[in-house]
Amino acid sequence: MHDTTARIITGDCVEALREFPANSFDLIVTSPPYADQRKTTYGGIKAERYNAWFLERSAELLRVLKPTGTFILNIKEKVQDGERHTYVLELILSLRQQGWLWTEEFIWHKRNCHPGKWPNRFRDAWERCLQFNKSRNFKMYQDQVMVPMGDWAKTRLKKLGKNDVVRLDSRVGSGFGKNIANWLGRDMAYPDNVLHFATACSNKNHSAAFPEALPEWFIRLFTQPSDWVLDPFAGSGTTNTTAWRLGRNSVGVEQSAKYAKLAEQSLHALANRALGENGHGKANPNNGDNTIRESPHPGLSRGKIEEHSIDKVADRAGSQKSLFA
Ligand SMILES: C[S@@+](CC[C@H](N)C(=O)[O-])C[C@H]1O[C@@H](n2cnc3c(N)ncnc32)[C@H](O)[C@@H]1O
Repeated sequence: MHDTTARIITGDCVEALREFPANSFDLIVTSPPYADQRKTTYGGIKAERYNAWFLERSAELLRVLKPTGTFILNIKEKVQDGERHTYVLELILSLRQQGWLWTEEFIWHKRNCHPGKWPNRFRDAWERCLQFNKSRNFKMYQDQVMVPMGDWAKTRLKKLGKNDVVRLDSRVGSGFGKNIANWLGRDMAYPDNVLHFATACSNKNHSAAFPEALPEWFIRLFTQPSDWVLDPFAGSGTTNTTAWRLGRNSVGVEQSAKYAKLAEQSLHALANRALGENGHGKANPNNGDNTIRESPHPGLSRGKIEEHSIDKVADRAGSQKSLFA
């Protein structure tokens, strides 16, 4: 039984999001076009214009995010004239002025980045995942992303010294203290803020697709099943397929009709698989007698925005869910 909704809207997210009520989403996780990059595939915004362009869209994100929600922005500055560009740093400052709290920065270490040699720098193996919130009281489910303690624990915790069994304050006066013995007998630990994921390798027909592990980590950390996830720059729909797999409802907005179609196809493939596994046969979105539906959502105006919505219920008896009903 899978009673989850996923919608892909084709259009500019600034227009599409205006149709949504305030405080609708629990998590926004996205990777927008980076300044001056991939002009040929999906257009590039000039670095000088990037701030203004993005702020118009993030104003809508601020409005539709719940006060307890989180916004994760995957972005990276390029090198220009031998220097790192500062547009991302400027964007962070502008987003704070817009009303966002810059609560954390995760580093996505790209485990499989291209080998190469440059005269004055090494290969770029990481990107920023900036965390913004509307309030300090955002929801976070830390236990959902715990990691195995690892082999270090076996050796480090085998023989405890006298300093390991009491809380020991840092010798450098940092104010941090630790009691190593507290970790005895534990299998799992909380992760740090460096995420090691390979870039998407399978051919997803999109030049900048997320590896599923990236949205998955944030979806697990910041949402619960049935919560609402938004990707305003959805591309091939990785955030939406991942959300759907994890039982979270989602909306994806994608400007390019070609990529929006890709996203829909991936969602339909997932839903078909789920229906098959549940013994309900194959879903056909064009069949009126089907629980997978493709129709415009009544809350969204037709016109400038071409909208496709896909409600997926892998149980024929399940009711159609309407967005924010
Ligand atoms: C970096 S890609 C996102 C890739 C995505 N994370 C995935 O896994 O496939 C950015 C996407 O934003 C889309 N885009 C650019 N401007 C947009 C806008 N104003 N509104 C919605 N989508 C936009 C581009 O067409 C592109 O597919």
